[in-house]
Amino acid sequence: MYNFDQHINRENTNSVKYDLRAKLFKKEDVIPMWVADMDFQTPEFIREAIRKEAEKDVFGYTFRSQSFNESIVNWLLKRHAWSVESQHISFTPGVVPGLALLVNAFTSPGDKIIIQPPVYHPFFASILDHGRQLVSNALKFENNRYTMDFSLLKSQIDQRTKMIVISNPHNPVGRVWSKEELLELSEICLKNDILMVSDEIHSDLIFRPHQHCPLATVSEAASQQCITLMAPSKTFNLAGLSSSFLIIENEKLLHRYNEILEAYHLSLGNIFGNVALETAYNEGEAWLEQLLTYLKNNIEWVRQFLVEEMPQVKLVEPEGTYLLWLDFSALNYSDQALNHFIIHQAGLGLNQGKGFGKEGSGFMRMNIACSLSVVKKAMHQLKDAIGQKKEAS
Ligand SMILES: Cc1ncc(COP(=O)(O)O)c(C=O)c1O
Repeated sequence: MYNFDQHINRENTNSVKYDLRAKLFKKEDVIPMWVADMDFQTPEFIREAIRKEAEKDVFGYTFRSQSFNESIVNWLLKRHAWSVESQHISFTPGVVPGLALLVNAFTSPGDKIIIQPPVYHPFFASILDHGRQLVSNALKFENNRYTMDFSLLKSQIDQRTKMIVISNPHNPVGRVWSKEELLELSEICLKNDILMVSDEIHSDLIFRPHQHCPLATVSEAASQQCITLMAPSKTFNLAGLSSSFLIIENEKLLHRYNEILEAYHLSLGNIFGNVALETAYNEGEAWLEQLLTYLKNNIEWVRQFLVEEMPQVKLVEPEGTYLLWLDFSALNYSDQALNHFIIHQAGLGLNQGKGFGKEGSGFMRMNIACSLSVVKKAMHQLKDAIGQKKEAS
């Protein structure tokens, strides 16, 4: 059994999550439950593989061997019943850099690219920073559940619309898109010649009975017009190691992507990241199963606590990811006042909902990939703060 209760001190390690608190929250002792990495120890079998690699005498230019791709092929087959061919795998140091490369490879300045807010904030920048037009196909929110708005999507498409970027599963709202939803989306995109980019970085973090469906698998035609971005970084806590990958089954698209990867000289990657990815996928299943059980338990604890102790705050039921999307609108705060309250009264460092687009107004995103004792402490601090607010009003 792996121990997910163990406390790992991440302070003074240049950790974004911990050591940027003073700068970002103006309060250095908030409980950090924001940026998407986990407080759990990266599994020992991966740390051991990195240590072994570190014993080499030379760290010169190194290419990825065939076994790197094989570890991905086997993982995708085992975990997602997706049979991909080794030659359809390409590389990117990170998923967000990969997205920026795709925007540059397959669209031109002024082209329109669709996203579905509230959504992972770098999607906005990956489009706007490269001079493309952003089209917001906001998700629908009904009965505390998010769905894709297909009629809005159809009404927004025109000649300049070239690409859609989806988060599958969706950060921050926690939806695991169903095959039916993805099929409907793909049919609209196929009809209108829109390239589909599916960011599936959270796809290993799915709570049963939900199941990840890679967008590229919904039909043969979709597989030829879809590019998938994936990584072991969220799953195994490896975000600092910069090793991610793409699946591109259309040979022409693959060739074009590889050209741009070479043009920026990004294809070699980092030897430690490459060793970590391979080891994670070859040896990580048992660890991942235990992680999922632990995360699910944290979520269940939060859900029950909210219902019993803090019904004003509503949880949007997460089907995947360790990021909780919490609806604070019943507290009737402006976004600025809510943020101030969360930091200074509750002592928590969360992501503001509106950082994911204006549709996130009134929400906060909470990362519960930490020990249950920290989750409990955070929720009690929140409850006390809300209690004090009530007394004062
Ligand atoms: C949907 C999504 N894509 C990409 C990333 C980050 O990818 P990378 O660190 O590989 O650039 C995150 C991190 O939170 C994410 O949630």
